[in-house]
Amino acid sequence: MKKVNEPALHYEAKNYIEISYKKTCDCPDSYLSCISPKEWVKGQVAIWEFYYEKRDIRDKDIHPAVFPIALPKKCIELLTHKGELVLDPFVGIGTTLIAAKDTGRNAVGFDLNPKYIEFAKKRLEEVPEIFENKTKQIAICDDALNIPKYLKENTVSLIVTSPPYATLLLRERKNKSLRCDLRKNKYYKKIQQYSFNPRDLGTMPPKEFAKALAEIFKGILPILRPKRHCIINLNDLWENNKRYATHCYVIEEMEKVGYELRNIIIWDKRNLVNLVGIYGYPSNYITLSTTFEYLLDFWRPK
Ligand SMILES: C[S@@+](CC[C@H](N)C(=O)[O-])C[C@H]1O[C@@H](n2cnc3c(N)ncnc32)[C@H](O)[C@@H]1O
Repeated sequence: MKKVNEPALHYEAKNYIEISYKKTCDCPDSYLSCISPKEWVKGQVAIWEFYYEKRDIRDKDIHPAVFPIALPKKCIELLTHKGELVLDPFVGIGTTLIAAKDTGRNAVGFDLNPKYIEFAKKRLEEVPEIFENKTKQIAICDDALNIPKYLKENTVSLIVTSPPYATLLLRERKNKSLRCDLRKNKYYKKIQQYSFNPRDLGTMPPKEFAKALAEIFKGILPILRPKRHCIINLNDLWENNKRYATHCYVIEEMEKVGYELRNIIIWDKRNLVNLVGIYGYPSNYITLSTTFEYLLDFWRPK
């Protein structure tokens, strides 16, 4: 039954999942996370670098755009306590859920594509439970727009996610950032789009994408606890020699629906790219978008 003072939500049929969300550590309530002062200082540097580990999946036939486990892990450790609840609205094959299990946090992830969710569940089974206080990590196949059906208000302590980068994958792969002789690898001229479902944000051009993303986050805002963070990993798009500053469109739309931008972190990917090709020389200067990505850090202000 809906209480009289409950905000009017447009998602009526609730199906709340059973999951803990309260901290289980002894840290003071005013602390944002369990992190040590030394690690906090490292987190203040706005340029982050990550390495892939053995468990990371880099086979693009399984999923075309997976981030390293180390990325959500760093966000979780910096911004949550043990036992708290983490949300990834675009969970893909479950990388954030693995990072949550590794660090003793509860987590829920959503993805439109059933194949990815099945893969995420299998990956999770292989991660051992190492903490005394057992946690749950749940992968759900649904449109992220429906998240308010599943989670109660003021329960999530961190959102960390990598949505599709608008239509970045919805075209034949040309491998332009690779050296000439490496361009024609097995992915050359393949379209590696997640799905052609019209609700897949990867089918939407940048400005439409930013609006659809913000619509999803508008519904999630009451679920996120006040002053808690929401990190969105993104990159801009180049099409027909024009740059689409997707990260700017997303900041604008997120602020319209009530989030406040706190930090812009650069994911420095220079350690992951090698044997780059030359293009544009000597007349058209373009930086290599494979060398960095954005981590946009918002919070729910009140
Ligand atoms: C960049 S990938 C995320 C990969 C993930 N970080 C990982 O490491 O596996 C973006 C995901 O968003 C999903 N997606 C696209 N539109 C969606 C929507 N409306 N609701 C939920 N998931 C969606 C795609 O299926 C895709 O797996």
